[in-house]
Amino acid sequence: MIFEVLTIFPEIIENYVGCSMMKRAAQAGAARFHVRNIRDYTTDKHHVTDDVPFGGGPGMVMKPEPVAAAIDAVQALNGGALPVIYLSPQGEKWNQDLAMEFSQMPGMILICGRYEGLDERVIEKYVDREVSIGDYVLTGGELGALVMIDSITRLLPGVLGNSDSAVQDSFSSDGLLDCPHYTRPEHWNGAAAPEVLMSGHHAKINDWRRMMAMKRTRERRPDIWEKIEPTLTKKDRKLLAKLDEEQE
Ligand code: ADE
Repeated sequence: MIFEVLTIFPEIIENYVGCSMMKRAAQAGAARFHVRNIRDYTTDKHHVTDDVPFGGGPGMVMKPEPVAAAIDAVQALNGGALPVIYLSPQGEKWNQDLAMEFSQMPGMILICGRYEGLDERVIEKYVDREVSIGDYVLTGGELGALVMIDSITRLLPGVLGNSDSAVQDSFSSDGLLDCPHYTRPEHWNGAAAPEVLMSGHHAKINDWRRMMAMKRTRERRPDIWEKIEPTLTKKDRKLLAKLDEEQE
């Protein structure tokens, strides 16, 4: 997976991808991170990347020429085949399904805007997908690009130590939130870890985890629960009934 990131703050991206799992993914050859400074593609003496908006109003708009030159250069280096993604609050909202879809791609060019964003003509000419990481406005697309990079990279083969953990966490395959997790010590702060987890009985442990995932999703995310509830199996319904009984 090749990530080509275009930004005027390369340090933000470089620092994050140089640590922890992203670093390991690069070392293992699962992901390659190339960070390009859009300012390097300016042709004027002062390396200007933004200008005042036509029509007036607050903020600045990123000039089209340097961004276009950066995209052209990066496409040429990659055989012209990478999808171009622009991070902005106007995009489709990022989620685990999109992370899984994008993890199948050979790579992508991620464009991070600043200020009021890109000149619309660059978006029309180059951008294949516009992605938002949530309904709030950030000062730039860098955090969005990193959210995409992180959530995609951890899905790549060989990146997580335990290949099951990507399948088991929240929002994967079954769409439920994740169950609670515990580790040693067994007693901490006056609270004991659930006994069933110490039983060594794998079927019971799996049932308990499934039950807790359903309970959490029902309580915390009624929007998700509404969609999943009709797909529950007979066994799921039994587990839920048992849970509701215990709580009465
Ligand atoms: N740039 C500014 N706000 C953003 C958001 N919510 N998602 C992605 N990119 C952004």
